[in-house]
Amino acid sequence: MSTSALAREAIGWCRTLATCTEEPPATTRTFLSPPMREVHRLLGQWMTRLGMVVTVDAAGNLRGLRSSESSRAPSSKPSGAPPRLLIGSHLDTVPNAGAFDGVLGVVLAIALVELVGQEPLPFAIEVVGLSDEEGARHGVPFIGSRALAGTVDEALLSCRDSHGLEVRDVIRDYGLDPSRIDEARIDNRAIGYLELHIEQGPVLETLGLPVAIVESIAGQTRLNVVFTGTAGHAGTTPMDRRHDALAGAAEWVDAVEREGRATHGLVATVGQLLVEPGASNVIPGRARASLDVRHTTDETRLAAVSRVVNAARVIAARRQLQVDFEARFDQSTVPMHPLFIALLEESVRKSGLPVHRMPSGAGHDAMVMAGRLRAAMLFLRSPAGISHHPDESVLEEDVAAALTVARHFLGELSRSTVWSI
Ligand code: HGY
Ligand code: MN
Ligand code: MN
Repeated sequence: MSTSALAREAIGWCRTLATCTEEPPATTRTFLSPPMREVHRLLGQWMTRLGMVVTVDAAGNLRGLRSSESSRAPSSKPSGAPPRLLIGSHLDTVPNAGAFDGVLGVVLAIALVELVGQEPLPFAIEVVGLSDEEGARHGVPFIGSRALAGTVDEALLSCRDSHGLEVRDVIRDYGLDPSRIDEARIDNRAIGYLELHIEQGPVLETLGLPVAIVESIAGQTRLNVVFTGTAGHAGTTPMDRRHDALAGAAEWVDAVEREGRATHGLVATVGQLLVEPGASNVIPGRARASLDVRHTTDETRLAAVSRVVNAARVIAARRQLQVDFEARFDQSTVPMHPLFIALLEESVRKSGLPVHRMPSGAGHDAMVMAGRLRAAMLFLRSPAGISHHPDESVLEEDVAAALTVARHFLGELSRSTVWSI
């Protein structure tokens, strides 16, 4: 099948998988929620048709292995097994998502295996459909890739969702065994990780480019800030005798936005605001606000976080509120592997496309995988820069271009010495 036909098919797959959702007609598919089973079934069937060995590991990652066809596979790996290149992305989504964030990277990995056909490669390809990158259900991202990287800990397994279900409970409810999560860890047969992903921003559209090579992935800090005041009667409590938690939080949200605007390249977002008791005639006694701060320089990000944390303290003191902080996640900026970047650049060149490198403002599983093995990302243009929204889209010609680049990447990798180390 030609790359343009495969590209059309891949977009069709993403549109179909977008209907596997908890909240039709919107696309919402969180960590091991029921619709994930259908995604695993459909993609598993496709991979099985391609002759791949399909499994789901104890962290709920869908994994498909195309074994290497070459006798050149070196025996320096455990039990002489051939080295393998991991290609994939995440299968979960944010609430009311688009059809391409994450899932496109898994679909293109399988489409690439279809494109390669029976051609021998000196390494195996393992397609990975990672179970949770967004952290939408438990508030902590990267469950799937952390299982592959071997960094899942008790704190992660005991994180609870809004129904009080721990990560380990959700794994069990899906029919998997959380005590076997260590078996999901990759071993030294894995020589690298490649992730194809939409840019989710306006850069490539502005430059008129179909693809770009990711240089680094911006670090991010996620935490909750909880303002506690005094609930009271909205009708009888004079304004000067209130300790309104939401009013304090609202003043702080404005401070966060001003901080983001004041520092070049910084983004600071309050995406969630939970108000208690949440009645229109009750002065809010508690307001829980999420914070997401990112920058490609860790010092800049951390300085901004401490300024907005301090602002919360000052506002709370003036309003006689209590303020507490719940750390959720802190990830440094992660560079992609220079050798894989070079191989990707050569692959883009061989595809007859302009080479453009850029940082990623969005977080990706590649930042977790980079802690264990060579990691690289190829971005595809996001029309109108739209993502985390139902209008998220891709252009067929860009998907075909990405497949062509990925196909060249396999050739460049085969000719390199990486897989034989
Ligand atoms: O939030 C992010 O950066 C990614 O989309 N999970
Ligand atoms: Mn996302
Ligand atoms: Mn994503």
